[in-house]
Amino acid sequence: MQPTSSNLYVRENPELIDDPELAGHYLAAGKLVAFPTETVYGLGVDATNAHAVDRLFTIKGRPSNNPLIVHIAHLDQLTQVASHIPEDARALLEQFSPGPLTVVVPKQTTIVDSVTAGLSTVGVRIPAHPTALAMLQAAKRPIAAPSANRSRRPSCTTYESVLEDFSNAPTIDAILKGEASLIGMESTVVDCTRNTPRVLRPGAITWEQLRDVIPSIERAGQTVEPGENSPGRLHPHYQPNAIVQIVDSPESVSAEPDCAWLGLVSCSQPNRMGMHCAYSSIESFASNFYEALREADRRQLRVVYCQRVLDTGIGEALADRMRRAAEPK
Ligand code: TXA
Ligand code: MG
Repeated sequence: MQPTSSNLYVRENPELIDDPELAGHYLAAGKLVAFPTETVYGLGVDATNAHAVDRLFTIKGRPSNNPLIVHIAHLDQLTQVASHIPEDARALLEQFSPGPLTVVVPKQTTIVDSVTAGLSTVGVRIPAHPTALAMLQAAKRPIAAPSANRSRRPSCTTYESVLEDFSNAPTIDAILKGEASLIGMESTVVDCTRNTPRVLRPGAITWEQLRDVIPSIERAGQTVEPGENSPGRLHPHYQPNAIVQIVDSPESVSAEPDCAWLGLVSCSQPNRMGMHCAYSSIESFASNFYEALREADRRQLRVVYCQRVLDTGIGEALADRMRRAAEPK
């Protein structure tokens, strides 16, 4: 590793490590460490270290107006992140943590302003992943972590994909190796700073599950309203190099060797497609979606046809990511 300008270290390759305690110590020392979670891989940094957080935004290529989620190991660390816990946030955390839920709550002053893109609120999550929790415990501080992909690219659900995105300098310091993420869709983000909580991003905790806890909960619309406190929705996301097209039926797809099919059923001539994935369940479709987009790019395919899915359960998150992957580049 060679020091260059004041705050960037040019690494050739991230170090691959197996030990969550070492990963925690690296984070405490201000390093950037990717780690597995049950949703997608995260790219962690000490949320109280402004210098390290700036380096993360630069290396990921993340717009500075898109805030990061802060990860903790236990509910009793909440006061290190939040200045106040609204009742609805507490009810949701008690029901779904550890797990794929992020609540947006008023921010504690020790969390550096660049983590929250200058907002007075902060997203907090406790992941349900033993390796991530062991790392967070060893770090002994709140860890800000966006998904561990280069900005705009599909998220990573394997450490090999993280390595693929960060194999060029300047890169991150280490990758904590783990299995492939089981859920494959990011956490559900709920803004709990309003009178009525609002879902900003659909995710692995479903609308139906949230409504059982807070019957009055609202959903943000698909278009961003003026003044809406949901910066992540402004930027292009989840996009492979290939063109993504959402289709209602496999019959509308012409089988070509430079095209991929992703769906719950087969398309008519699977052997003539460059890549063909027919998943046995919506959960399996969701959990493999990002990796399939990445594989299409590895094979240099031109178009990825995605079968439209029902907007219920985990299907709501998958439909959201598909729609965003298909937006014009
Ligand atoms: O499952 C996940 O949430 C993964 C894993 C690593 O935990 N993380 C993740 O982070 O998806 P990221 O940075 O890719 O997405 C964070 C989302 C963005 O849409 C961001 O705008 C929103 O959360 N967000 C974070 N803090 C916020 C805040 N204070 N107010 C509104 N939205 C916020
Ligand atoms: Mg992301």
